[in-house]
Amino acid sequence: MTTDGLLAIHRYRTGRAGLVPLVLLHGFPLDHRMWDDVVDLLPGDRTVLALDLPGLGASPAGQDVADVRGASGEPALEVAADAVAATLRSIGIERAVVAGLSMGGYVAMALVERHPELVAGLGLLDTKSTADPDAVRANRHRIADAVLAEGNVDEVLGMSRALLGETSRVQRADLIGRLELWIRAQGPAGVAWSQRAMAARPDRTQVLAGFGGPALVLVGREDELASLADAEHLRAALPAADLVVVPRAGHMTSIEGPEPVAAALDALALRVDAG
Ligand code: MLT
Repeated sequence: MTTDGLLAIHRYRTGRAGLVPLVLLHGFPLDHRMWDDVVDLLPGDRTVLALDLPGLGASPAGQDVADVRGASGEPALEVAADAVAATLRSIGIERAVVAGLSMGGYVAMALVERHPELVAGLGLLDTKSTADPDAVRANRHRIADAVLAEGNVDEVLGMSRALLGETSRVQRADLIGRLELWIRAQGPAGVAWSQRAMAARPDRTQVLAGFGGPALVLVGREDELASLADAEHLRAALPAADLVVVPRAGHMTSIEGPEPVAAALDALALRVDAG
């Protein structure tokens, strides 16, 4: 746990100088471990690290991160993006390929808006650039209130099934157990902060229109939380994006289809190196 408002860094490997590092941002309500399978499949010559977002995994509480950054009290993904930037700079990273899955994608888009010089390449996996409809926003606040009132994360445990596609739910019961374990490891305060921060996020489609670097949009064909239409909307907004659709995978492509995800991230990073 850090006391300087910086996020927990999980350095999977240190690669060759000269290759742009790959930085991975996880989804909700999880932590960096959702990238383990993908990292195992990536070539070994590039630095790869993942950060735990505020209040999740080993990172400090969202409120503490916000306080250190002098941000107002309201949970906000902008706080998370600024903390990602500060954390990367604290270890000498000034330019990276940044890939985020779902909530991690929301943070990556806020990073592009607020710290564009850091983002040499952008990976948006199972995510969307649009803001929440009112009903979704209200539900996030309901969940945040419930986990805080109950003092546990039971309210979001059901996500262990919802995050997966139908094929995985039927054929890969092990993945449900794995997700449950990761969700149970999160604290109610972090879950509540993240939900409120996601509820407050604006539409960032126009931010993507200004991102000229190499980009990847990836989605599980069976994703029930971020659809193929959401992915096509992202691809249309980005000037230079490839779209990859992962068959037989839902929202958790990093564990349901780690091979195509690793291949797509490697291809993105190579495009950045070549640029
Ligand atoms: C995630 O996987 O990060 C969540 O589904 C994001 C969200 O709730 O919008």
